Amino acid sequence: MTRIGWYGLGSMGLAMANNLQRHLATKNALSLLYNNRTMARGDALQALGGTPASSFEQLVGKCGIIFTMISNDTVLQNLITTALQSGHSLKDKIFVDCSTVHPHTVGLTVSKLAAQQASFVAAPVFGGNPIAVDGKLVFAMAGPKRATDTVRPLIDGVMGRRVIECGEDATRSSLLKIAGNIVTVNLMEAVGEAQVFAERTGLGTAPMEELIGEAFGPVAGGYSKRLTTGAYAPSLSTRPGFGVSLAIKDANHARTMAKDHNVELPGLEIAQENMEAARDYAGECLDSSAMYGVLRQKAGMEFWNEKSRGGNEQ
Ligand SMILES: NC(=O)c1ccc[n+]([C@@H]2O[C@H](COP(=O)([O-])OP(=O)(O)OC[C@H]3O[C@@H](n4cnc5c(N)ncnc54)[C@H](OP(=O)(O)O)[C@@H]3O)[C@@H](O)[C@H]2O)c1
Repeated sequence: MTRIGWYGLGSMGLAMANNLQRHLATKNALSLLYNNRTMARGDALQALGGTPASSFEQLVGKCGIIFTMISNDTVLQNLITTALQSGHSLKDKIFVDCSTVHPHTVGLTVSKLAAQQASFVAAPVFGGNPIAVDGKLVFAMAGPKRATDTVRPLIDGVMGRRVIECGEDATRSSLLKIAGNIVTVNLMEAVGEAQVFAERTGLGTAPMEELIGEAFGPVAGGYSKRLTTGAYAPSLSTRPGFGVSLAIKDANHARTMAKDHNVELPGLEIAQENMEAARDYAGECLDSSAMYGVLRQKAGMEFWNEKSRGGNEQ
């Protein structure tokens, strides 16, 4: 029986790994072996039956399928280097990365692993933490067919509600993820602008939120709730749902690729400038929707609203 490993227990990774471990338990399979930079993040996973590994190297040595869900390209590259230098044979192992990274990073990773007869599947996800908790993420998946066929039963109906197949070239799913985030970031900007407009004109954020949820769907409605509940600027003791620096990374990836292909992304540029201004003003502990705070400032209001960190109710 192939043992499955998991590295990365952040906002998304922990929720996903919990669902995978629950699934493995129902199949009487070997427990999920996990590792994370901050091991204490795995306490909930261990309580579900997951088994801590002492290092990423140990995970690689013991597992045939290794999932990663980490913040950015550099972290993924470092993990792959660690695997390559671990001294363990990587032959026939399958590495599955669910993070959002540049297709170029995916291409490099595929080549490095292929040289060791290992496979790489890029399986980035759409949906935030609550959707990850519910096991209802949308996955884009690409990689060698034998590998994707092996991995799909661990994803479909376990961590995700839908798998969009992008073929055997792993860079394709990464490209789809970057393209999808152009919509995500623009939508957050649009919802933020509408809510600032609603507040300043005296319409109020409540009817605006009702309309956004009803007319533009639950994703847009969820973005509005991040503003009205103050989640755009959470307490310093918590982790943001989708950290502002992660969304800036995604916007940078999209803009680099757009430039290479002579595509203009003016909406994304404005949203990115507002996210960067938010981070300059309020630091790292911000959600990607924190452009809202800057839009508030531009309209003569405080960055903080009543429910956010720094607000009246805090
Ligand atoms: N959040 C979302 O709504 C969302 C949705 C779709 C896709 N994504 C993408 O999914 C990925 C994960 O997102 P997330 O929200 O779960 O991020 P997160 O909460 O910031 O977690 C990041 C993970 O990477 C680890 N990490 C960060 N820097 C590291 C380093 N230098 N060395 C080793 N490990 C490191 C963290 O370890 P520690 O626990 O020790 O900090 C944690 O496990 C990102 O690529 C993001 O763009 C996020």
